[in-house]
Amino acid sequence: MIPRLLLPLLLLLALGVAASQEAPRYLDPDAPVAERVADLLARMTLEEKVGQMTQIDLARLMGSGEWDRGPLDPLWLERILGDAHVGSLLSGGGAAPVPNEPAAWKETIDALQRYAIRTSRLGIPILYGVDAVHGHNNVLGATIYPHGIGLAATFDPDLVRAIGRAVGEDVAATGVTWNFAPVADLGRDPRWGRFYETFGESPAVAAAMVAAFVEGQASVGRVASTLKHFVAYGQAESGNDRAPADLSGRSLRGIHLPPFAAGVHAGARTVMIASGSVNGVPVHASRYLLTDVLREELGFDGVASSDWGDVDKLVTVHRVAPDLDAAVAMAVNAGVDVVMVPHDAEGFTSALLRQVRAGEVSEARIDEAAGRVLALKFALGLFERPYVDTPAAAAVVETDRSLARRAATESLTLLENRGGALPITGARRVLVTGPGASDVAMQMGGWTIRWQGLEPGGDEPPAVTVLEGLRAGAPEGTRVEHRTPHDPGLLDVAATADAVVVVLGEAPYAEGAGDSDDLAIPEDDAQLVARLEDALEGRDAPLVTVLMAGRPLLLPAALRRASDALVMAYLPGTEAGTALADVLYGRVAPSGRLPFAWPASVGGLPITADEPPAEAEHEPLYPFGHGLSYGRFRTSELAAERDGDEVRLSVMVENAGDKSAEHVVLAHVRFPIVRILTPERLPVGFARVALDPGESRRVDVRVPLERLALVPGDVRAGDDLAVLPGTYRFEVGGESTEVSLDACSIRSRDGSVACR
Ligand code: BGC
Ligand code: BGC
Repeated sequence: MIPRLLLPLLLLLALGVAASQEAPRYLDPDAPVAERVADLLARMTLEEKVGQMTQIDLARLMGSGEWDRGPLDPLWLERILGDAHVGSLLSGGGAAPVPNEPAAWKETIDALQRYAIRTSRLGIPILYGVDAVHGHNNVLGATIYPHGIGLAATFDPDLVRAIGRAVGEDVAATGVTWNFAPVADLGRDPRWGRFYETFGESPAVAAAMVAAFVEGQASVGRVASTLKHFVAYGQAESGNDRAPADLSGRSLRGIHLPPFAAGVHAGARTVMIASGSVNGVPVHASRYLLTDVLREELGFDGVASSDWGDVDKLVTVHRVAPDLDAAVAMAVNAGVDVVMVPHDAEGFTSALLRQVRAGEVSEARIDEAAGRVLALKFALGLFERPYVDTPAAAAVVETDRSLARRAATESLTLLENRGGALPITGARRVLVTGPGASDVAMQMGGWTIRWQGLEPGGDEPPAVTVLEGLRAGAPEGTRVEHRTPHDPGLLDVAATADAVVVVLGEAPYAEGAGDSDDLAIPEDDAQLVARLEDALEGRDAPLVTVLMAGRPLLLPAALRRASDALVMAYLPGTEAGTALADVLYGRVAPSGRLPFAWPASVGGLPITADEPPAEAEHEPLYPFGHGLSYGRFRTSELAAERDGDEVRLSVMVENAGDKSAEHVVLAHVRFPIVRILTPERLPVGFARVALDPGESRRVDVRVPLERLALVPGDVRAGDDLAVLPGTYRFEVGGESTEVSLDACSIRSRDGSVACR
């Protein structure tokens, strides 16, 4: 007879033996993800599941307060990863380990991972997120690429795919598994402080770039992409960040959803929700947008995450919920799977637990949300390989300067070039001046080391400034001199220089802090150009103005008159100087094109190329797609035919100049007469081609039928995108041709097309 006390012990032993013989199903790497998720969920407590839905900022785990930057604090580790079972962490803008070095990133994230795996009952790894929106930009030493607006100006999705891969490799090397990029919002209002993070105004361009970035980053295998911020974030009427947007179902589906649909179809595993509201409903509280549209219509099956503190804001800003408990239930029931809290883990988890116990949120919904997070962890291989094996994170992070250089070079957009002022050739003395000539903060923009960009006197990442680049890259016999705008000798040097390069720009900013009411160029900058113009009066020395800015600033007429050449450099990043030297000295012909229409006044907004016709039309200062070259290109023999789900355009392009050059071929469409407003000419497709002097090549431009789709119907239109039957006129260069299309409907779930 076995003593009663021994019985349970023996039972446990037997179970233990059984378990050791057969590892739990969720740990079997060969089991299908859905089975692993179901098995793991069945073993988890409600508290553990709610923890998976919670995301906390690194700063909360360091030092004593919210923003102290110190070593990881064991007390907070226990509270957050232990007591609250938190399933993901992030580095918000500027939240970095101390010291901010690649190796410290890897060690810190590995340490957090180790803690999470060892203390969680079931050994569940964490996800770690960052905003690597233009390189691994929180990390000192990482290569910084141009911001999205500059990448869009390259019209080069292959380049963006390569950058997606390079950024994915960089973040993966430091243990990061979740990148809050790419930005799939459109930049349709330059007053918005996040305009520069976007791929510009065009759904066609943004969709191609978003898909390319997602594909590149996915090829690394260990990093999830985030499409942010779902949806219509950039469309606030005020032009402000996180402000209300009012838009029709027609523009929701025709303009704002396509880049998200493209990202979903390219395999993005997460989506971040926009902080604003659409048609009177905060997106975080919209079941329609987060479930009906995102899940059912677009077919997204990954993780939907809140943005920073946005559940609280349902109470404090939007005032659609009386208290945090109600807000939590509202957001989770609408479809938010993970909440970026980001500080008070216990506050959030206890509110959600209360709401589940009160029956306001179903356990099935918790299983669904936590299950999606677990599915992501399985898919990324985190249960098998939770730590980074790269021994030298440092070496991996500082790479790809050549890719950054290529990106910056391809983005540079030549707006004006009077009398062939550029390239600068045969100059003995070149004067470089202006506030941007050697300002690393300016060439990087926001989201670089710190949230709002580099701080005066703070850490400075490696970079080639414009001055350094123009010096190092100067041709034989050219001497570069630098004077600050306030140097008393400035005008004397200008008076004898053979060329003057003045670099203007915007100080860095991020989010609402960057909202602008006037898009103004600082008065001092305009005056600087005027003074230089006077000094150059009557001489044959060109004045070249370079603008490093995240958006089209209003260019005073005097500045435009004074500048013989005008170059838009966007926010070019690490290799600004090298890229500008290549283009200004003529080693590379500029090939960037504006991914937005440049407004002539704030009152003239909106000015996008797809604005429908109106009696009084505002003209842009420079249209969408504007960009000059040193070369001359001729297009001929445009042909177009419907080819399955696309219209295939093909055109001969000839380099009729005497220099090798790259050229962006842009295709526009004119719609048939239909019963709703259509833009006069809509940009729908593009291709980049490199040609030697005298070379001709046939270039294909593929236009998915999706890009021609509209939401038809009267004011209370339905939801469905359709290609309306009729004759479509396609234009490339000076050529045009027509294609007749039947009525087609578009299935947003997979972008497939059915035509009658
Ligand atoms: C921004 C997001 C970002 C998040 C985390 C938010 O304020 O809107 O774009 O991913 O912070 O840093
Ligand atoms: C964080 C950012 C975040 C922002 C939200 C900042 O303090 O560092 O990551 O995007 O707050 O407003």
